[in-house]
This record gives sequence, C-alpha cells and structure tokens, in this order.
Amino acid sequence: MQDKAYRRLFWKIVATTLSFSLVPLLALGFSMYHEFRVSYTAKIMESLRTLTENRSNAIDLFLDERISQLNTLAYTHTYDNLSDETYLNSVFTLMQSRSRSFVDIGIINRNGIHAAYVGPYEVKGLDYSNESWFQEVLLRGVYVSDVFTGFRRFPHFIIAIMRRQENRIWILRATIDTEIFEGMVKAAQVGQRGDAFVVNREGVLQTPPRFGEKLFTMSDYPIASRFGGTRLEEKVIGGEHALVASTWLRNKDWLLVVREDPREELLPLAHARLLVLGLGIGGVLLIVVGTVAVARVMIGQLIKSDREKAYLDATLMQSTKMAALGKLAAGIAHEVNNPLAVIKEKVGWIRDLLSEEDIQESENYTEFEDAVRKIDYHVDRAKKVTHRLLGFARRMEPVNEKVDINRILDETIDFLRNEAHYRNIVINTDFCRNMPQTMSDSSQLQQVFLNILNNAIDAVGKDGLISVTTQYRPSDTEICVIIQDNGPGIPSDVLTRIFDPFFTTKELGSGTGLGLSISYSIVEKLGGRVLVASEVGQGTAFSIYLPLRNGYSV
Ligand SMILES: Nc1ncnc2c1ncn2[C@@H]1O[C@H](COP(=O)(O)OP(=O)(O)O)[C@@H](O)[C@H]1O
Ligand SMILES: [Mg+2]
Repeated sequence: MQDKAYRRLFWKIVATTLSFSLVPLLALGFSMYHEFRVSYTAKIMESLRTLTENRSNAIDLFLDERISQLNTLAYTHTYDNLSDETYLNSVFTLMQSRSRSFVDIGIINRNGIHAAYVGPYEVKGLDYSNESWFQEVLLRGVYVSDVFTGFRRFPHFIIAIMRRQENRIWILRATIDTEIFEGMVKAAQVGQRGDAFVVNREGVLQTPPRFGEKLFTMSDYPIASRFGGTRLEEKVIGGEHALVASTWLRNKDWLLVVREDPREELLPLAHARLLVLGLGIGGVLLIVVGTVAVARVMIGQLIKSDREKAYLDATLMQSTKMAALGKLAAGIAHEVNNPLAVIKEKVGWIRDLLSEEDIQESENYTEFEDAVRKIDYHVDRAKKVTHRLLGFARRMEPVNEKVDINRILDETIDFLRNEAHYRNIVINTDFCRNMPQTMSDSSQLQQVFLNILNNAIDAVGKDGLISVTTQYRPSDTEICVIIQDNGPGIPSDVLTRIFDPFFTTKELGSGTGLGLSISYSIVEKLGGRVLVASEVGQGTAFSIYLPLRNGYSV
C-alpha cells in the first residue's frame, strides 16, 4: 500500500521532470535539424543552379562562336570564291587549325544542290531542296540541326548560314563533331551518381546520358515547353529520388538537364542528422538516468523521514497509552491496597483470637484456622497483583531501583517456557553466582530481554538451543548478559540494519521491526549498550552490557 504510493510519486516526479526537460530538448533538436536541412538543401540547389547555368552558357558560347565563325566566312567571301573547292579547302584547313570542331564544310546553291564540299564524305551534287532544314535556313538565315547520324555513322549536327549576295542566295553548311559538344555537357556530371544531358523539344536525347537510356531515345525526363531561366526540382524519376536542374539553350531548342543524387549531395546532411540523433539520444539518456537517480534519492529521503516520523508517532502513541493505563492501574492498586491492608490486619486479629484456649477447644477450631490461613494467603496474592500493577504504572519513566538481573532473566524465561517447550527449544541458563545488585529499571530490562529472547525463538524456529549467560567480574563496572541461539544467523547486509526501526525480515503481520530498536534505545537510556555477533549457519549472540549504576538521574 505504502510502497505503491511511493512508487506512484516516484513515477510522477520522473514523468514531470522528463516532460519539462525532454520536450524543449527534442523541440530544439528537431527545429535545429529542420533549419539546417532547409538551408543546406537550398545551398545544394543553388550550387546545382550555378553549375547548370555555367554549363548552358558555355554550350551557348560554343554555338555562338561556331555560328559567328561561319557567318564571318560567308559574309567575307563571295559564292564564286567559296565554290572553288581548292580555295574552300584552304579556308577550312585554316579554320581547323584553330579548333577541330568542324568535320566538313560545303556550299549549297539556291536550288539545294551541293556545289562545293570539303570533307571525308561523298556528298557533292546531292539535292537538298526538299529537306526541311533547307527550307528552314531559307526562312531564318541561320539553322542549327538536331543531332543525327546520317550517313556519317557517328553523331553530329549541322550549322547552316544563308547569304544573300546581291540577288543571289546561297548557303554555307558545316558539320560539327559532337565530341567537343558532348564533353561540355558531360562536365556537369558531378559525383558518382550525377548526370547531365541535352534533349530536344520532343524529348529525344541529343547527348548520351551517363545512366539509363541511349542517345536518340526518348528521355525519361518530362519536357515542358520553353521557359526562361533555370528550373530546380526535387523529383522521383524512374523510382529514384533526384535533384534536377534544367535550362533551355539560347541558340537552339535544346534543354540541358543536370541531375544529382540527393543521397550523395546530402551526405553531410545525413551525417548531421546522425550527429543530432546521437547527441539527442545521449542527452535523453543522460536526462532520464539523472532524473531517475534524483527521483530515487528524493523518494529514499522521503521514505526515511516518513519512517522516522512513523516511529516517533508509534513510540509517542505507545507511551501515551502506557501513561493512561499506568494511571488507571495505579489508581486501582491504591484503592484496593487499603481494604487489603484492613483485611490483613483483621486476619491477624482473628489469628490472635484463635490462639485463646476456649476457642481452641471448640469443635470448629480447625475449620476456623484453615479459613484464616486461606484468607491470609489470598490477601497476599491480591497484594502481589496490586504490586505488579504499580510496577506497570512506573514502567514509562525509567526508575532507578535495585535490580537483580538474574532474577529478571529467570522471570522472563519462565514467561517464555511454554512457547519454547512447545517448539522443542531448550533454554539453558548459566548465571554468574556473585552477581551484584544493579541500579536500573527492572520492567524495562524485562522488556529488552523479552524482545531478544523472542527474536531468538523466532530465529531458531524448532528444535534448538538458546543459552542465557550472565557475567560479572569484581573489577568490572558493568555486568553483561549474553543471549545466544543456534538459529540461522544474520547475513552481513541484514546485520547492519537490524536495529533500524521497522526493519524486519519477517513476513507481513508477524514482525513489527520495532523490537530491537526499542530494546536498543532502552538499554542506551539505562546507560548500557547492545552488541551483536552473528555467523550465518551458526547462530547469533546478543550481548547486553549494563552499568552497575546507571547513567541517568531520576
Ligand atoms: N536471533 C536472531 N537471529 C536471526 N535474526 C535475527 C535475530 N534477532 C533479530 N534478527 C533479525 O532482526 C530483525 C529485526 O528484529 P526486530 O527489531 O525484533 O523486529 P521483528 O522481530 O519484528 O522482525 C528480524 O526481522 C530478524 O531478521
Ligand atoms: Mg522481534
């Protein structure tokens, strides 16, 4: 019952303390992690945007350069100059000496016929008039094609420039080797899992991606219509989580897509989460352990002080009860003593009368004498009872009277004799013969001996031996009583607590745990001390030392 209440209080303290300390801690941890995550993700996205924009600028710049190179060529030369293949060849060689980005170059006339060509393929004389690119370049002046294989069998694309020369129209057309172009796109493939590729308006791959589909197949990246700037997204593509940036190129309807694996990019974030989690768990554990420990100590203190209070209450109640009983007993004893004294006196008188001769001759003389003897005997008995009652009345305050320790022990043992006999326990006595009379309180001593003997009987249980010894040497200032049993003994961890109030190893209801503590305080009050020696399996011996003259004044 009591234990339950303490346990409930313990859990209450633990729960309140934990909720007040853990909630802010957890809230702080989570919000800090959240903030970190948001800003870190923003940072990653920003660097992805920069990477993508740099790449698209580089690609556009590359295209710009090629276009302006071809523009310059077309506008600084006439059709007649360039349709001369020897001249075209020398110009092409000069262009290639700077950068090898062109594969071939050719001049196509207004009718779509390939008039001059420098390059590795046999395309001279072909008619392009029905090709869509041909219509396109006539319409716009500049045309950049998608990547295709054509008869050249490796991926390339063309740039075509229309020149209006007086009333003549002709077209300069060059093929770009995509290797350099692809290289520029690939530069945006960062980390182990990063990818970058270019798709056209229909979603067809223009450069080979690092993972997944092949060149010229449809990309799994959903294509939106042309937009300005760079678009940043967190997406799930093909079942995988990805950070994606995309931007349209300026010169061509090509979309540059740069993809990063968030697991890779967000690795430091995962580390941070682990750190926060670790610190959090550590902190929580520390707080929990600390709280439980503090609550334990607090409850321990509470239990201790409650016990002390209960002990004081119990002893106070006991002494009040005893005082009241004592008063009553003293009153009764006093009231009864007076009539007893009168009866005693009258018995003496009757006895005197019986000694007269004429009465002795009476036939009822023996009956008279017998009655008088019986009355005398029973008055004495009644007197003993009143004496004992008076003794009980004095029990509360220690009295300083001459006591015969051996006699008190005898009386106490007599009191327990039946119980011991019933349990087949032998109580041996070995009393010091020349025991001096001591100044002490007999009834309180009796209580002490009774407590210790009772414990010994309880400890032995059945079939055992208890020996009671008294010792005194003429040079001593104290006498010693040893009460020894051959019970189970007391383990050392219990031994340190047996004098504690309410400490008991007996089952609920059969022990109060007060016997030894009360005995201890009585002996202390009488100026003596109690020592105990015990060995598990051998038995226990209590030694009570009492001064010849007790230490207190009455
Ligand atoms: N002679 C003994 N042998 C073994 N244990 C003992 C002996 N005397 C006392 N003890 C131990 O000391 C405890 C406290 O004794 P006590 O204060 O008299 O309380 P209680 O007898 O009500 O348990 C007992 O419960 C018991 O464990
Ligand atoms: Mg006891």
